[in-house]
Amino acid sequence: MRIIILGPPGAGKGTQAKRVSNRLGLPHFSTGSLLRKAVSNNTLLGKIAKSYMSEGELVPNPIIIDLIEEEIEKHKDKEGFILDGFPRNVAQAQKLDEYLEHGGKQLDIIVNLEIDEETIIERIKGRLSCPKCGKVYNTKNGYYERVCENCGTKLEQREDDSEETVRNRMKVYLEETFILVDYYQKKGILQSISGRGSPDEVFERILALID
Ligand code: AP5
Repeated sequence: MRIIILGPPGAGKGTQAKRVSNRLGLPHFSTGSLLRKAVSNNTLLGKIAKSYMSEGELVPNPIIIDLIEEEIEKHKDKEGFILDGFPRNVAQAQKLDEYLEHGGKQLDIIVNLEIDEETIIERIKGRLSCPKCGKVYNTKNGYYERVCENCGTKLEQREDDSEETVRNRMKVYLEETFILVDYYQKKGILQSISGRGSPDEVFERILALID
């Protein structure tokens, strides 16, 4: 199955994509996580991406498209994937369609998480991430320990989670990404669900769609 989890910043895309990936045994590709890893390893990609990410702007399409195609190629023996954070604009969506069509494949379902801005801000304000393994926590979900339960690393707030950058990320989402709801609706593969409620509740809604 080839699944995309779509939604605004902080909607829970990463949280749900990981759960779906574990449940279906499919690889999970998150462009945001891949870029953060590159930034933390100070690679050439990371150096280029850092300035865009810290402003909440999109990293240029050619870089992102190469990055994601490379990841999909690495796992081409698998029966699909879960994408989160990609595509982010129509040009990326078209490139993905072309790439899949070339291999005689297609997307199966786009899960669009609908959520209000107030909930987004609350979730992002409480988010803590492990800079080493990438595990994501939230103080609002009762996690107050300052170290990662997986690897013991001190948790950090993401650099792009400052109020000003989150505002710009929301603006970029509305200007460039929201149009994808229409793009996939026209293809008849979009399913919108509420992203509100607990992570378990949202996961149940997604499973009901996938089943
Ligand atoms: P990216 O990392 O993709 O950021 P984003 O889309 O803004 O999404 P987030 O990671 O903020 O949120 P999420 O929806 O995954 O929510 P999460 O599950 O963490 O991208 C970062 C940057 O990289 C971009 O700004 C851009 O610069 C660049 N980039 C990435 N992809 C790109 C692309 N394709 N093209 C160009 N540039 C690109 O949840 C949020 C918090 O809420 C967490 O703390 C979580 O624990 C909590 N939470 C989740 N679900 C629930 C729930 N149901 N109830 C309560 N709490 C919850």
